Amino acid sequence: MANKKKQATWGGRFSEGPADLMLRIGESVSFDQRLAPFDVQGSRAQAAMLAHVGIISAEERDAIQTGLDHILEKIEAGDFAWDPALEDVHMNIEQALTQTVPAAAKLHTARSRNDQVATDMRLWFKFACAELDASLAAVVAALVDLAERTREVTIPGYTHLQRAQPVPMAHHLLAYVEMFARDRDRLAAVERAANVCPLGSGAIAGTTLPIDREFVAKELGFVDAEGQPRVTQNSMDAVSDRDLFIDFASACSVAGVHLSRLSEDFILWSSAEFGFVTLPDAFTTGSSLMPQKKNPDAFELIRGKSARLTGNLQMLLTMVKGLPLTYNRDLQEDKPPVFDSFDQTKLMLDCVAACLPGVVANKERCAAAVADPALLATDLVDYLVRKGVPFREAHHVVGALVGLSERLETPLDALPFAEVSKIHDALGEDWVEAFDLEKALAARDQPGMPGPGQVAARIAFWREQWG
Ligand code: ARG
Repeated sequence: MANKKKQATWGGRFSEGPADLMLRIGESVSFDQRLAPFDVQGSRAQAAMLAHVGIISAEERDAIQTGLDHILEKIEAGDFAWDPALEDVHMNIEQALTQTVPAAAKLHTARSRNDQVATDMRLWFKFACAELDASLAAVVAALVDLAERTREVTIPGYTHLQRAQPVPMAHHLLAYVEMFARDRDRLAAVERAANVCPLGSGAIAGTTLPIDREFVAKELGFVDAEGQPRVTQNSMDAVSDRDLFIDFASACSVAGVHLSRLSEDFILWSSAEFGFVTLPDAFTTGSSLMPQKKNPDAFELIRGKSARLTGNLQMLLTMVKGLPLTYNRDLQEDKPPVFDSFDQTKLMLDCVAACLPGVVANKERCAAAVADPALLATDLVDYLVRKGVPFREAHHVVGALVGLSERLETPLDALPFAEVSKIHDALGEDWVEAFDLEKALAARDQPGMPGPGQVAARIAFWREQWG
């Protein structure tokens, strides 16, 4: 069933309006209306540029800009009637403006929705990267605080989820700080790439009108460190490239993977089996059936949501890969995944930053977990190496001692020296000193290692970097 009413913006060549189902499949205003502030910003700059080059008068520019401001006020107050028949945020705003400002009929001069939406999204990416950066900084600050609070707490570090070697809990937490610092770099790179103005690319081939691309770029803040305008260099690329969407979704996915691994660690650590930490009540939930339960739902949901972020990235890669140049309507589907990646990543980060201050380390449980002297078997190997035993041989010797300790059901450091000394000449009476946990950690004092001096220095480094 076709509508009698023709499309106001592009309906000139059509004898009837789009079918109801065409309207339903074609509308994007249900999700792109959140671009309104950026669309208004772009249109204000477009009007300024058109006046600057003499295509419209100063009065027309002022009328258009005032009209746009009113519309944005209405939108922000929730008083704007979005019409899906007008497809998207761009046509909704332009049509509303035309109703009160006759000069608005000139606003779309030398512009297409293709370069318009590319501009809106670049403005949005700059905003989104800055928001996520602030949220990442808060997570880092919370992790550094928790590392500070747990500097005295030692836990087993794991490989293959088997106890491996003792590490300060702070060192484990600071590993995530390194990851989130790289996430900030990735987002900063996306922000830099977004900072180029596509306006003036038109539909695909620019315009014959005497516009000023650099003027409009400056108006919108697409400038380098020296304040010089940055404009896209190929009109066909500018309207069809979606690298930024993919890079943004990718940066969110990688941050999501980091958040997911952090969540998994806290889920394990808060279980009865580990008992290393207690999570704050405010970020856990109970069971409708089992009164004793306290479930780590916030971290489980973060782990789950990270899958969504990966899906969004996959969707964008798949959508773009087979498209011929230039714009194809498929590209309208580019927005839901990046909006979702932004919303979810921000929520995940904000939850972690809010939850970490309430995390309490259970010192006794950690101390018990790290008490097994076998966790320092490698340090005994190092003891032998220091006595001149080749590493491979030393490894075998200590392996034999571990076997002996298992057979005699005696902790490694409690084996009688008479038995120990039989295994290798280099094992002197001082062999048990290898099992002094405090000394073992203090000896790990080179960059990147878990010694207390290194951990303290890294905490100080992050505090200095990010206040
Ligand atoms: N809503 C459209 C989108 O987001 C705007 C661009 C429309 N361009 C076109 N040639 N129909 O992709």
